[in-house]
Amino acid sequence: MLILGLETSCDETGVALVEGKRGKVKIRTQAVASQIYLHAPYKGIVPEVAARDHIKKIIPLIKICFSRARLKLTQLDAVAVTTGPGLLVSLLIGVETARTLAYVFKKPIIPINHIEAHLYANFISPSASQKNLCPKFPLVCLVVSGGHTTLILMAKHGRYEILGQTLDDASGEAFDKVGNLLGLPYPGGPHISKIAAHGNPKAFNFPRAWLKDSYNFSFSGLKTAVLYTIKKLGPKRLKRNPQLIADLAASFQQAVIDVLVKKTIQAASHYPIKAVCLAGGVAANPKLRQTLRQACQTIKKEFFVPPPNLCTDNGAMVAASGYFHALRKDFTPWQKIRVSLQEVRTSRPQN
Ligand code: KG4
Ligand code: ZN
Repeated sequence: MLILGLETSCDETGVALVEGKRGKVKIRTQAVASQIYLHAPYKGIVPEVAARDHIKKIIPLIKICFSRARLKLTQLDAVAVTTGPGLLVSLLIGVETARTLAYVFKKPIIPINHIEAHLYANFISPSASQKNLCPKFPLVCLVVSGGHTTLILMAKHGRYEILGQTLDDASGEAFDKVGNLLGLPYPGGPHISKIAAHGNPKAFNFPRAWLKDSYNFSFSGLKTAVLYTIKKLGPKRLKRNPQLIADLAASFQQAVIDVLVKKTIQAASHYPIKAVCLAGGVAANPKLRQTLRQACQTIKKEFFVPPPNLCTDNGAMVAASGYFHALRKDFTPWQKIRVSLQEVRTSRPQN
């Protein structure tokens, strides 16, 4: 089955062609156009700027993917598209592109939830040289991105239970806001993880919001604690002292990781699961990957995380997710496809 995946929910235009066969998914080709350079001057994403850039990029990226794979649109089995959650004006570009392709080429559309797509990056087969393993059910997945921090229990394809989510800022949002406080370029996440490697994670004892052992998260208190610490230290002193910035970054990162890992391991120990998955942009963080991997070894659970380029937004995860929906014939006709800002869809059509 050949699936085209379109992702335009935020600030990356992602397009991919994946091939699904006997329950396995392989990427034929993919292309991602990042808009970071457009939003960096504003230290955040400007929705209309994002949407205008998606309009410019999406058709050229689709053409590039088909020409690289030496395939034609007529050979497609379905178009999978992110319908939400995300920025409304940006989502519309992907959805209207999918609608047009589906109408012209008479192909079915598969609407994809963005959080679900991140999770499905774990089901994309690595290169043939590596072991070709997929996570087994039931599994627990921690999705950590710029917009979400969600702990999911997945019983089988299409069957999700939300164990917990953030009550305020998403973990990626906290990374970006703290990056801004530290004077780092936007988005702060990748910059913090780089400089934190040279810092002392115990230099500052930032608060961890355990929320009475629930599976929910909260990062706004931590962000405020970093803000007050910087105010106390004095922004001028900070500018002159790169080691101090590295220590703040490392201590902040450690506080986020401690909470994410402890809650995920708690859930993985409580439920009779076979695998633990990590997904979303923040899953590109090397220290988080390493810490959760080691914690899973301790409780003897298999651990999965996509390669960093499949953690941040991309079209392949949307197409992969689409393949498993297609197996259940979970299609939507072009007339009925809509943007959906609903956070997480927990009930899905079952086999
Ligand atoms: O999944 P994603 O590409 O977009 C959303 O769905 O939001 O995630 C983007 C987020 C940003 O907040 C970015 O700072 C964060 O992922 N991120 C990281 C790292 N790489 C990206 N956070 C921490 N460490 C990283 N290495
Ligand atoms: Zn995302």
